[in-house]
Amino acid sequence: MSVQSGPRNQIKKPARQQCRRAFGVLTTMSAGVPRSRSRDRQKKPVKNAQICRFAAVIPSPGMFRAEPCCYSLPFPQETPAIVGPAGARPPFRNDIDSVSGPPMQRFNLGTTDLAVSSAVLGLMRIADLSDAAIRQLFSKAQDVGINVFDHADIYGGEAHECERRFGAALRLTASERGSIVIQSKCGIRPGFFDFSEDHILQAVDRSLAALKTDYLDLLLLHRPDTLVEPEEVARAFDRLHAAGKVRHFGVSNHTPRQIDLLKTAVDQPLVANQIQLSIAHAPSVAFGLAANMAGLEQSIDRDGEVIAYSRINRMTLQAWSPFQQGFFGGVFVGDEKNFPELNRVLIELSSKYGLSPSAIAYAWIARHPAKIQVVLGTTSAERLGDIAPGADITLSREDWYHLFRAAGHVLP
Ligand SMILES: NC(=O)c1ccc[n+]([C@@H]2O[C@H](COP(=O)([O-])OP(=O)(O)OC[C@H]3O[C@@H](n4cnc5c(N)ncnc54)[C@H](OP(=O)(O)O)[C@@H]3O)[C@@H](O)[C@H]2O)c1
Repeated sequence: MSVQSGPRNQIKKPARQQCRRAFGVLTTMSAGVPRSRSRDRQKKPVKNAQICRFAAVIPSPGMFRAEPCCYSLPFPQETPAIVGPAGARPPFRNDIDSVSGPPMQRFNLGTTDLAVSSAVLGLMRIADLSDAAIRQLFSKAQDVGINVFDHADIYGGEAHECERRFGAALRLTASERGSIVIQSKCGIRPGFFDFSEDHILQAVDRSLAALKTDYLDLLLLHRPDTLVEPEEVARAFDRLHAAGKVRHFGVSNHTPRQIDLLKTAVDQPLVANQIQLSIAHAPSVAFGLAANMAGLEQSIDRDGEVIAYSRINRMTLQAWSPFQQGFFGGVFVGDEKNFPELNRVLIELSSKYGLSPSAIAYAWIARHPAKIQVVLGTTSAERLGDIAPGADITLSREDWYHLFRAAGHVLP
């Protein structure tokens, strides 16, 4: 139950190196094998041309300013997508709805009957793991009660690379596939966002091929495309659903008004929204606690009150980067230089609740009555086991607010 080992090591890494790891791009310095846990990982060719520049991107204002970034990685050319005839009956399995799993709490995804775990395993960082390490991580996830696995077409340096690694390493049987929830995202392309019908259909076909599965349980539109035509999204979603390729739909990083715009044409229920949220990056929570406080930075609404909207509309929120400060700025757990008070309180509560500081940081998100899923990005089975118990404790109100203030947020 110590914070020392992982977090400190992690935050000492320069942001650029973290960013490379995040997207599975190896550095020339690593000579094809990352320094950490290299024994678990496969040798892969160095991809000099694919250096991620996210480290140079300032989250706000203008998160995606005109810097080259990971989104400029090569994607395949579009070709017409192949989908089944409209009206075909989706061949979805229902095993997941009745699975009695390990103790981690589960609840329904949005308005669906899909029983999902509090934690989601995010697969954004698995590109350079060996098959054995991916299997170990997957198996540990199942042991601790996780049944949801999060992908995106852009994860892994090359399009669909993390999906491909996952599919190749696991080669799930039909019954294994039926007992888990696989979600993926599309809509981010090199240098632009694309919610066109053709691109959505194409991206899903490629995700299914890479994952070696017939269907996604959940498809999320990754980042809002301001050129979106809701009617095109509606057609794509209807075709994917009718063909049995996607079971449920949602969004990621969307504001309430952007969701309402989609809903002007999209009939498929939008059941989830994945947003960045951690105790150290909590504008979505902090704003509502300081509304209308003139002159207070925290009182600026940055997302149109997405948490209240999600509760009102029964959309499940999923918190990405639950341990990162800023935009892939390093892990705050154990970062006593930048978060001394937060770490002091995390340690204090870790001994009170008998869990690791990381599990307490998890519990801070999970305690919210919005029933927010937490998307864990660790590639370490051991760390996963350390964090997961955070799903099953309920922090007292006093402790929750204590952590909130310790992270630097204000209670007026
Ligand atoms: N929708 C979106 O726009 C979006 C954006 C980004 C990510 N995501 C999703 O969210 C998932 C999680 O994002 P993330 O990977 O940035 O989240 P994270 O869980 O906050 O960060 C995981 C990273 O932190 C490291 N770490 C070091 N100390 C840690 C500690 N004490 N506790 C936890 N992690 C520690 C992990 O290293 P080890 O691997 O060595 O444990 C790993 O590199 C992704 O996999 C992806 O599925 C979605």
